[in-house]
Amino acid sequence: MQEKMKKLEKSFLSDLNNVKNAEHLEHLRNKYLSRKGLLALLFTELKDVDPTLRPQTGKALNDLKTVFHEKYQELFLSLRGRGSDKDQLDLTLQGRLPFIGRKHPLTTILDQMKMIFNAMGFRIEDGPEIETDYYNFEALNIPKNHPARDMQDTLYITEDIVLRTHTSPVQIRVMESTKPPIRIIAPGRVYRRDTPDASHSPFFHQVEGLVVDEGISFGDLKGVITSFAHKMFGPDIEVRFRPSFFPFTEPSAEYDFVCIFCRGKGCRVCKNTGWLEISGAGMVDPNVFEAVGYDPEKYTGYAFGMGVDRIAMLKYGIDDIRLFFENDMRFLSQF
Ligand code: DAH
Repeated sequence: MQEKMKKLEKSFLSDLNNVKNAEHLEHLRNKYLSRKGLLALLFTELKDVDPTLRPQTGKALNDLKTVFHEKYQELFLSLRGRGSDKDQLDLTLQGRLPFIGRKHPLTTILDQMKMIFNAMGFRIEDGPEIETDYYNFEALNIPKNHPARDMQDTLYITEDIVLRTHTSPVQIRVMESTKPPIRIIAPGRVYRRDTPDASHSPFFHQVEGLVVDEGISFGDLKGVITSFAHKMFGPDIEVRFRPSFFPFTEPSAEYDFVCIFCRGKGCRVCKNTGWLEISGAGMVDPNVFEAVGYDPEKYTGYAFGMGVDRIAMLKYGIDDIRLFFENDMRFLSQF
């Protein structure tokens, strides 16, 4: 028996040395370690061993079995780790679930906004995020040293080049390159020198709206904003306009939607006012028309802004704007 065990170990080790791939290894396993393999055969011969020697022979056999299994396991893992030989493909391994991507909540809301405005006849326009002082301020009737520049905490690249602080410069670019009638929205990212907190981020998203034609009135503006509110948040959402000031509109207004959480009763989100501030709007200032070469006697128009992040936060009940930009999968996978 001792002899047989020695021989088997020798032949196992020499076979093991010749294993080059998973197929060889499987062959080795079959030959030595399977139920009808050579090792199992030796175990069946244990009964023929002198009963006094049987316990120690049995133990020696078990030790041999452990050695075989360890060597086998070691080689199995090292072959699998190499990973290039397709013989190693283990079809019994469980597959990995493919990761299914989804839309970012801001993209979903922006898509909805675009659809709503598209259905009302608005085209979608685009403009650069790196803007000149002229488009971001000057042409919008915000001259250098005008106090209205304080409203925008601007990120300057050079004295003349800024990261746009709003999407309003797209109004100018569109009017410069097109004749009325104009009916566009311009969605995009904007930048401000704000310290991040739950309601501030150094960048966020706006949708700019601009309509220019003969005979456009403030009533048209109210109609479009109200239709938007109804389509985005529901048909019973009231809209109100409050007098305000923007250098590029006259008259100017800020507009609010009735609080979508308490329907005007007053709650934490609307700070008990019953209203949610959305953004600004107004009739295009004649100075802006002059900057782009439109005849302010002939044409009138309205413009409005909208905060995409704010609308998404309201729609999904999110109370911290930073969540949109941290790319935390625990947050994103909820949408
Ligand atoms: N650009 C303004 C801002 O970022 C929002 C705005 C106000 C846009 C009035 C407009 C407007 O088009 O008419 O705060």
